[in-house]
Amino acid sequence: MSTEAYHPGLEGVIAGETAISSITGGLSYRGYSITDLAVQSTFPEVAYLLLHGELPNEEELADFKTILDESATIDPSIIQFLGQIPLHVSSMDALRTGVSAVAHFDPQLDDDRPAAKIAQATRLLGQIPILIAARHRLRRGLPLIPHDPELSFAGSLLRLITGETPSPLAEKAFDVSLILYAEHEFNASTFTARVITSTQSDLYSSIVGAIGALKGALHGGANERVLEVLQEVDDPSRADDWVREALSKKRRIMGFGHRVYKDGDPRATILRNYCQMLAAEREDNRLERIADTIESFVKSEKGLPPNLDWPSARLYHYLDLEVDLFTPLFVASRVAGWAAHVIEQGANNRLIRPRSRYIGPPSRPYLRLDERSN
Ligand SMILES: CC(C)(COP(=O)(O)OP(=O)(O)OC[C@H]1O[C@@H](n2cnc3c(N)ncnc32)[C@H](O)[C@@H]1OP(=O)(O)O)[C@@H](O)C(=O)NCCC(=O)NCCS
Repeated sequence: MSTEAYHPGLEGVIAGETAISSITGGLSYRGYSITDLAVQSTFPEVAYLLLHGELPNEEELADFKTILDESATIDPSIIQFLGQIPLHVSSMDALRTGVSAVAHFDPQLDDDRPAAKIAQATRLLGQIPILIAARHRLRRGLPLIPHDPELSFAGSLLRLITGETPSPLAEKAFDVSLILYAEHEFNASTFTARVITSTQSDLYSSIVGAIGALKGALHGGANERVLEVLQEVDDPSRADDWVREALSKKRRIMGFGHRVYKDGDPRATILRNYCQMLAAEREDNRLERIADTIESFVKSEKGLPPNLDWPSARLYHYLDLEVDLFTPLFVASRVAGWAAHVIEQGANNRLIRPRSRYIGPPSRPYLRLDERSN
């Protein structure tokens, strides 16, 4: 390949092959449309599909759920440490530390067989909700809530954080958000995970690196900033002026635009419907009206459609979740996709090591320290 071909941000570059998901013709996971999965499936079924390649039957799903339930315990020393991390540290940073700490207690850490990685990933799926909720509640001096195996994955995760069992609509809406967040081919965090795996590092290192990549405002961190936008605008009548001013200052409006979806993110449409249902359940559609006004104005001014983070921020707000938890909850779901990519990369590995185009000074003579000091 010519070393002259250069695509800033790797835009449009095919950097690998995957059988996990496809964006072409609508987003699908292992051949299943996300619309079908969101309507008919549950997050554990989707996580199983991503990790194992096929949807589970009843027995396989029950076994998978048992592992998730059994993993919902964390070594007490980690929980204690989460409570000692300084209060100002964000939930996302604490989660990155928590996942790294969990690795030290995994006896299979260096076992790189696919089955061992699936087992590690399944345990991590059960542990991450505990890490998120424990840190959140300890930080606020609240008692920890035990995982309830009688609840669904989504229902238990919400209860672990808020202490309340969610309504059936809230539980379904949250489950759908987890399904939609679970996988998205070669996005920045997934690519990070694959790069780390390509050096023959372990699964946890790949996931910790991916969490670091997801945190940024241009990637997963956008969902936290979206709520700040809605709160800043505060009233539908102020939306047009706010957007006009933001655009005139060349400000990026969080929750809009996408590197791949230039005509609209299909996940955003699905989740918007749940936002409207939840707003109706709360008998308060003010945020929906603000969001709709911003949406039409950004579309007409810039031609930019919303991405998944636009509705998910409102949805999580309706579920009484604090903003600081939005991106960690993205992790709770995306870890399934990351792990699937780690397994896929490991099974057919080639070190990911691209080239750069040098733009520094031309070749020059070396001067000794005394010569440089005169
Ligand atoms: C996601 C994102 C990084 C993709 O960016 P990209 O593919 O690199 O697109 P570009 O930066 O080339 O943007 C193309 C044009 O749209 C503008 N644009 C893109 N997203 C924008 C946004 N959210 N608000 C305002 N303008 C935006 C750019 O400024 C650029 O305008 P210009 O041609 O006048 O300079 C970008 O859309 C963004 O920053 N969105 C906000 C953060 C976000 O929601 N992230 C979650 C992604 S799922």
